[in-house]
Amino acid sequence: METGCFLYRSTARLGSDRDLRAILAEARDRNTRLDLTGYLHCEDGSFYQWLEGPPEPLAEVATMIERDRRHQDMRYLLRGTQAVRQFKDWRMGFGVSDPGTLFEWIAERGISRLDEARLARSILGFLLSEPVRGRAEIS
Ligand SMILES: Cc1cc2nc3c(=O)[nH]c(=O)nc-3n(C[C@H](O)[C@H](O)[C@H](O)COP(=O)(O)O)c2cc1C
Repeated sequence: METGCFLYRSTARLGSDRDLRAILAEARDRNTRLDLTGYLHCEDGSFYQWLEGPPEPLAEVATMIERDRRHQDMRYLLRGTQAVRQFKDWRMGFGVSDPGTLFEWIAERGISRLDEARLARSILGFLLSEPVRGRAEIS
């Protein structure tokens, strides 16, 4: 069955590390119930999140995330459908990188930030690479 998916970037507004743990706990709990899977990356005060699953619950959770005051300036980089999930065993994987790691990844691949489709695919590639590089907490 085709699943919906999206990728966005936002600016974190976190009071403390506990806010982040709370977000992950809420996300993992609801994603399990709604059959959503994905990955959240935090770097340089920005969030990058991939979320995927059945279109209706996905849209509901997207609206909740948009309204969440623990981040701002949320901007979708990609929205679509796919035949196969990218993060099928992850209720919400999570990774933090040293500042600039994601931008280096993008620069090394010679991707212009103006080419939004390639940029989004490259960020997805980066998120998928984090567990391989031992940078991710998978849950
Ligand atoms: C960066 C970020 C990512 C989030 N990801 C998810 C997610 O994947 N799934 C989910 O159910 N909630 C996620 N949330 C949490 C929801 O936005 C939050 O639980 C929802 O808005 C309900 O809040 P309330 O209990 O205060 O009404 C995320 C929040 C933030 C800030």
